[in-house]
Amino acid sequence: MGIGTVGSGTFNVLERNQDEIRRRAGRGIEIAMVADLDTARARSVVGDKAKVVGDAREIIANPDIDVVVELIGGYGIAKALVLEAIAAGKHVVTANKALLAVHGTEIFKAAAEKGVIVAFEAAVAGGIPIIKALREGLTANEIQWVAGIINGTTNFILSEMRDKGLDFDVVLKEAQRLGYAEADPTFDIEGVDAAHKATLISAIAFGIPVQFDKAYVEGITKLSAADIRYAEQLGYRIKLLGITKRADKGIELRVHPSLVPAKRLIANVEGAMNAVVVHGDAVGATLYYGKGAGSEPTASAVIADLVDIARLHDADPAHRVPPLAFQSHTLGAAGKDLPVLPMGEVVTSYYVRIRVSDEAGVLAKITGLLAEAGISIDAVLQREADEVGGEGSTQTDLIILTHDTREGNMDAVLAQIQGLPTVLAPITRIRKEELN
Ligand code: NDP
Ligand code: HSE
Repeated sequence: MGIGTVGSGTFNVLERNQDEIRRRAGRGIEIAMVADLDTARARSVVGDKAKVVGDAREIIANPDIDVVVELIGGYGIAKALVLEAIAAGKHVVTANKALLAVHGTEIFKAAAEKGVIVAFEAAVAGGIPIIKALREGLTANEIQWVAGIINGTTNFILSEMRDKGLDFDVVLKEAQRLGYAEADPTFDIEGVDAAHKATLISAIAFGIPVQFDKAYVEGITKLSAADIRYAEQLGYRIKLLGITKRADKGIELRVHPSLVPAKRLIANVEGAMNAVVVHGDAVGATLYYGKGAGSEPTASAVIADLVDIARLHDADPAHRVPPLAFQSHTLGAAGKDLPVLPMGEVVTSYYVRIRVSDEAGVLAKITGLLAEAGISIDAVLQREADEVGGEGSTQTDLIILTHDTREGNMDAVLAQIQGLPTVLAPITRIRKEELN
């Protein structure tokens, strides 16, 4: 259902590698029907190898179809079709992270009741098999945290901003011209797409329900070239990270720009590539890197799900790998269903840039307020006023890196600092993740 970018990649890879896939799956996987609004374009992709229809419900109604692949996207018709396919007893493969992050609980419940599989490897980090790694490869571990570059568009923009010293708006236009960013890039640049993916990762890592509405989401639109440059001077790169972490009182689930030490491998992931670090108590840190989008990289994940279903579809549902990694009867078990923490309870460290008048006592006043709040300073950078505001300038930027503190504590002290008469512009605050 839907033979656009990912659908056509899925068709082509399945055609090309059919023999190898058959040997792995133990049986052939045949695309019998294809539905797309644009039937002429669909026919140009599949030729006479599959029946093309304009109404996806014809696929769901066909008793010979075992698996339905939803590659339409969005929450509208895609949701209705996925639920109808499940109700008709079909297994479902989807790359639709938006749908699962928002309506996953309803969809997985319906699938469990019907005894069918909903597989979604392609929904997180495209071609990287991160769902499989978390759900199966790392199943021995208590997962402690996951941090990932899980949106290629924003990583491309941030890489270009750093490489060329350009501001966000300029690079966004270039990304759109090159076809990296969509005409409406809102979900990407505002962090929503990454938050959809982080939400799914969080559920699989910690055995909690899918809760997109509890995720903290902040995009990259307010980042300036100056912050990227200052971060570099302090030994950091700025990346849009999706982070989910086990904390004492619950689970952190957040997407925002983050300073990452330049020496970390993930800090060196450039362009539209994705990478995810998973930290488990037994294995330590593991890193997964690859293409997070694109026709055939995403098809690679869709077909991996099809092979899984070909292998497992006649197994007793109780003996299949649970879609969210934990057996459904243990979700919500006493003490296991940890709450997603509000952002004020998150503990992390910070980069703070404060535009101040270049006069005696300003730095002392600010560091005094931080000290009173119990916030320890890790590093301070102050550029010469001439360099910041031009020759003869009486303003400068103070950049302070802090050690860990609770976000609520940081908010309170930043409000105090913002109120000082010597602070001349809104303060920039970017979270910092050491990832060690
Ligand atoms: P496209 O827009 O390229 O393809 C979607 C296709 O679905 C289009 O051909 C569209 O037709 C068709 N369609 C729309 N409505 C219907 C309908 N009611 N019945 C049948 N077909 C319909 O999207 P992508 O392939 O890029 O994305 C598909 C999914 O994969 C999305 O959920 C996306 O988030 C996800 N994804 C995409 C990645 C990528 O790299 N592109 C990576 C990872 C996940 P028309 O064009 O005529 O409207
Ligand atoms: N818009 C997404 C990205 C596509 O830029 O990563 C893959 O999910």
